Amino acid sequence: MAGKPVCHNGQGAEPATQDQLSAWAKAYGRLPLPADLNWLWTIGAVLCAILALMLLTGLTLTLVYTPDAGLAFGSVESIERRMPAGWLLRAMHMTGASFFMLALYVHLLRGLYYRSYLPPRRAVWLSGCALLVMVMVTAFAGYVLPWGQMSYWGADVAGKAVGALPLAGGWLEGVFLGGDSPGTPTLHRMFALHFGLAFLIVGVVLGHIAHVHARGSSSPSARPTAATGVLPFHPYFTVRDMLAIVLVALAFVGVLCFWPELIVEPANYRPANPLHTPADIEPEWYFLPFYGMMQAVPFKLGGLLLSGGAVAVLFAVPWLDRAMDAAHSAPVVVRMGTMGLLVCSAVAVACAGLHHMQGVWMLVARLGMVGYYAYFLLYLPLAGRVWRRGRA
Ligand code: HEM
Repeated sequence: MAGKPVCHNGQGAEPATQDQLSAWAKAYGRLPLPADLNWLWTIGAVLCAILALMLLTGLTLTLVYTPDAGLAFGSVESIERRMPAGWLLRAMHMTGASFFMLALYVHLLRGLYYRSYLPPRRAVWLSGCALLVMVMVTAFAGYVLPWGQMSYWGADVAGKAVGALPLAGGWLEGVFLGGDSPGTPTLHRMFALHFGLAFLIVGVVLGHIAHVHARGSSSPSARPTAATGVLPFHPYFTVRDMLAIVLVALAFVGVLCFWPELIVEPANYRPANPLHTPADIEPEWYFLPFYGMMQAVPFKLGGLLLSGGAVAVLFAVPWLDRAMDAAHSAPVVVRMGTMGLLVCSAVAVACAGLHHMQGVWMLVARLGMVGYYAYFLLYLPLAGRVWRRGRA
């Protein structure tokens, strides 16, 4: 009887599909990662889990939602009251958006603090920045869809901000709103943007993760893997990633069930009324730093440039930091201090964005803005030079 074919290593040859599977497992499952990765390296997996939740709940909500200025608010009410478990799906989608943005900011700050943007991971950082912009646009478009008071006036403020751009501003405002003021054409645009970008984000995330796998993860100690040692992705990091996802899921359910008012904006439960401007028009919490910057400057174009620049500057980070590699880094106390100042600056501008921009709040917003930009335009280039020279 013919025996099993034997390979040069003495083991039986595997069928083609098994070969492919084992190649995949080798590339992904057995991927060697620095042994000293900490819990902050689980946030990427958490982001993937929330993204999946957002897609599933979002797709289900579209079954009932109607993007028409006369019907949108009512269709959202139908989701809440008539669609089976509609209230739960909508609550999960809304809470998921806040959790996603929070995780995204933590993920970004992790990369900034450990300088994961340095070569050879520049492309990973840039694709991350592109994801940030796409997620922000998707979140903004989603906020317009329920057509409550904040949705309407948020779209109005954004339209006017776009209109303040020189030369093409008026034209762009028309393209954005689809008319002179927010209405059904605006809703069609926002719906298409919200729906389409969600799938584009999935594609870019796949590229982002493929890049991380190709370049390898950076290590929190910034030492070469020969010094830190390596562990395979599975089971060491898959198990930790899953545990992090379970812990975040518990916090998610906690907020959803016991603290819903943390996420919900009551003004958006009033239907859009173009004849009644709310006393305070404010965006979701995750846009507040950028909204505060937009308001802290007396002329619209300046505000727009400064708040857009706050995101744009992130793309330049790998070139602003002049260090040779992550090992040539400022002492931990300096890095912690400057990172703390960056976060406090962003929170200060965000708090100012919640208030009428005058008097002391204007001062707080401007100081916060200076602190934010100083981190990128002063600290990063200087720290890179100082510690490069110090170690050279
Ligand atoms: C939809 C949003 C995003 C998803 C789903 C995502 C997912 C991931 C995953 C799964 C990893 C590998 C595991 C980890 O290191 O945590 C990763 C790594 C990374 N991400 Fe993201 N990411 C997103 C957005 C961003 C953003 C906004 C940035 C920064 C601007 C960024 C920068 C990075 C960097 C630099 C790494 C490599 C870290 C290392 O050296 O190990 N990502 N991302």
